[in-house]
Amino acid sequence: MKLKPNNAADAKENSTKNMTRRQFMGAIGHTASGMAVAGGLVMVYKFLYPNVLLEIPSRFKIASINSLQPGSHVFEPEHRVFAFHDTRGYFFALSAVCTHLGCTVAWKSEGITGHKEGIFLCPCHGSEFTKEGDVIRGPARRHLDRYHMAVDEGQLIVDTSETVNTIEDMILKV
Ligand code: FES
Repeated sequence: MKLKPNNAADAKENSTKNMTRRQFMGAIGHTASGMAVAGGLVMVYKFLYPNVLLEIPSRFKIASINSLQPGSHVFEPEHRVFAFHDTRGYFFALSAVCTHLGCTVAWKSEGITGHKEGIFLCPCHGSEFTKEGDVIRGPARRHLDRYHMAVDEGQLIVDTSETVNTIEDMILKV
C-alpha cells in the first residue's frame, strides 16, 4: 500500500531546510566579509609599520683607529660623513651636507691660498668650507655639521644625531 504524502509536513520540512540553507549562506557571507575586513586591517598595519627599516641608523662605525693613519680621511657615502685623522694626532667627523641647499661637498686636499690644509668645496653654488667646517665663502652661511665621535673596541663611532658646535667639542683625542 502506498502512503499518501503529508503535504503540510513536507512543506514544513522544506521550510526548515530552506532556513538552514539560508542561514548557512548567511554564515558564509559573514565569514567572507570578516576575512575581507581582517585582510584590509593587515594591509593597513603593514603600510603603517613596514618590515623594511627606511631610516638608516644615526650611530655607525666609520673606520678602525688603526686603518685611519695621521693625515688621512675617510668618506662614508650613506651618511655623507667625513672623518679625519689630523696630523696633530686627533680625530674628528663632519657632515658632507652643504648648509646652503644640501648638496654633497667634495674634499679638496690641495687647498687654496690661506687654507693649505685643504677645503671642502660645494659643486652646486661654490660654497667653501675649512677642514673644520667653517664657512670660507658663501652662499652657505653656516658651518658644516660637526659630530661627536667616540671609540668602541678600536672602532671610530659617529652619531649623526649628536652635533656639536665648536671645533674643540668635535675633536677626539685617543
Ligand atoms: S648647495 Fe652648496 S653652495 Fe648651494
